[in-house]
Amino acid sequence: MTDAVENTTSRRLEGRVAFISGAARGMGRSHAVSLAREGADIIAFDICEPVHAQGAPPSTEADLAETVRLVEALDRRIIATKCDARDHDAVSGFLEESVADLGRLDIVIANAGINGPGVTLADSTFEDWTSVIDTNLTGIFNVVHASLPHLLSGGRGGSIVMISSSLALRPAAHFGAYTTAKHGVVGLMKSLAVELGEHSIRVNTVHPTGVNTDLLVNESTFKLFRPDLEAPTVDDAMDSYYGLNLLPIPWVEASDVSRVVTFLASDDARYITGSMIPVDAGMSLK
Ligand SMILES: NC(=O)c1ccc[n+]([C@@H]2O[C@H](COP(=O)([O-])OP(=O)(O)OC[C@H]3O[C@@H](n4cnc5c(N)ncnc54)[C@H](O)[C@@H]3O)[C@@H](O)[C@H]2O)c1
Repeated sequence: MTDAVENTTSRRLEGRVAFISGAARGMGRSHAVSLAREGADIIAFDICEPVHAQGAPPSTEADLAETVRLVEALDRRIIATKCDARDHDAVSGFLEESVADLGRLDIVIANAGINGPGVTLADSTFEDWTSVIDTNLTGIFNVVHASLPHLLSGGRGGSIVMISSSLALRPAAHFGAYTTAKHGVVGLMKSLAVELGEHSIRVNTVHPTGVNTDLLVNESTFKLFRPDLEAPTVDDAMDSYYGLNLLPIPWVEASDVSRVVTFLASDDARYITGSMIPVDAGMSLK
């Protein structure tokens, strides 16, 4: 019997097309580059402007242009635009046009997200709540839902990866809306895995601990970790970052998460579906 998965060490995604949200910087950009390095063409978008309760500085159109440059430097095609994950019609319209251009869709990485206001739920406003839920849960739904007609009509199966968080494995104070949304993403993943299995479309969530991106390493987080200081720096907050993990590291790098995302997107993971995959340096056991 022939094993269909041969030569899996390189170009595992040759000829495939991946759709990625929140691709201007951070993990979204890293996933785009990692998938392109394995041979995939990329369809990418990002809001490239501030979002209420983002908890991090906004990304820019220049950031998204840099993602385009990095993917093209790998000799891969990329179609990228400024778009809001909360806008279902805009997301599905962009994807429709892009799939018509690139000819197919195989991989979906629902990644765009915001941090939230960094206060307790009691101190949160309704606007804080809806901003986080609309982006981190409904925005993920929109990306995946817009993809389904293309994955199903392709008839070749596919892989959907949703970026959840270690806070869906072990909640912490000051991230209530975020934690709720990231748990919701798990429910969405499991429902879709059940519904799409017969079509060979796999659906999984990834649960990173703190990752070295603008979302985590910024002044609001320093202040959250060190409320005793007027203007804390990253060094002041370092013990708290280390304290999150079992392994002796303050955070993982975006590329650490991209390796797992790329594995899940590839045929190396052909029988993995409905799974919650931690990249959490042991955080959930702490
Ligand atoms: N950094 C961490 O510590 C960490 C840990 C676990 C999970 N995550 C999750 O990983 C994902 C990526 O985060 P990151 O760390 O790369 O953060 P990041 O802030 O660097 O990147 C997120 C990107 O999403 C974009 N975005 C936000 N709202 C959007 C919207 N409505 N429509 C389109 N784009 C939007 C932002 O503009 C930004 O470019 C998020 O879902 C986040 O919750 C991050």
